[in-house]
Amino acid sequence: MLKKLIGVALLMASPALAQEKAFTLQAPQSLVETGLMKHMLPRFSLKTGIRITVSEGAGDAAFGPDGTPVFRQGDTVWALSKTDGQYTDAFETWLLSDVGKRTIEAFAPDGEAMFSADVSVQAKVQVAAVTGDLVLGEESSLTKCGRCHVVNEKNRMNAIGSTPSFALMRTFPDWQERFETFFMLRPHPAFTQVAEITEPFPENLPSPIAPIEVTWEEIEAITAYVGSIAPADLGAALQTQ
Ligand code: HEC
Repeated sequence: MLKKLIGVALLMASPALAQEKAFTLQAPQSLVETGLMKHMLPRFSLKTGIRITVSEGAGDAAFGPDGTPVFRQGDTVWALSKTDGQYTDAFETWLLSDVGKRTIEAFAPDGEAMFSADVSVQAKVQVAAVTGDLVLGEESSLTKCGRCHVVNEKNRMNAIGSTPSFALMRTFPDWQERFETFFMLRPHPAFTQVAEITEPFPENLPSPIAPIEVTWEEIEAITAYVGSIAPADLGAALQTQ
């Protein structure tokens, strides 16, 4: 009798019965905690009859940085990577469908949508540790650098055409370092004073032009501002080469 019962129990746990429409989905804790999974997955299951088990470990599919972009949370674009299979395929198709998108955007725990289904907007390029004030940055750029460099549209007409524009310099891979040390890079040392950092101009070598005086705070602000401007589009010029 006992033997028989064990037999039944084994049968119930056998793979044959586990062949329901289901798969496991790996989602990081930070995403699970938003509550989106609880909002979204039952709606998908209701529609398709496919059950999804969320796991922190590896699964048949995963939300993360790799794969097909499916939704956006602020600047973060979440993507779905998956193994091939009709259930995981159905999930991807659903996420990208109008119904799926509406479901994602309808999730508004505090009355405000937390996720967007519009993944066409590229996440902004993250600038390392830029803490400066953007408003001060634009103002200082225009008053201190704008007589030579085109900073933006506001001083396009008053700058010196042969001096590289901020947008052009923003394309340099090491633009941030160059802006933070610009006062040491030619031609600036001859006419630039940074409070508490640079030595006064030697008496026999005064600045040949009206000097510029900046503080470290202004340099940080200028760097932050440069981080916020779009790099010049060099594509057109490069294509002709
Ligand atoms: C009097 C004119 C003048 C002023 C004012 C000026 N610059 Fe420049 N700057 C130049 C010129 C000219 C170059 C190009 C040097 C070259 O091509 O070698 C340059 C180059 C630069 C570079 C690139 C340097 C390199 O070697 O990569 C940076 C960064 C820069 N400027 C930042 C600034 C900032 C920030 C300010 C304002 C706080 C400023 N500049 C003010 C004339 C000026």
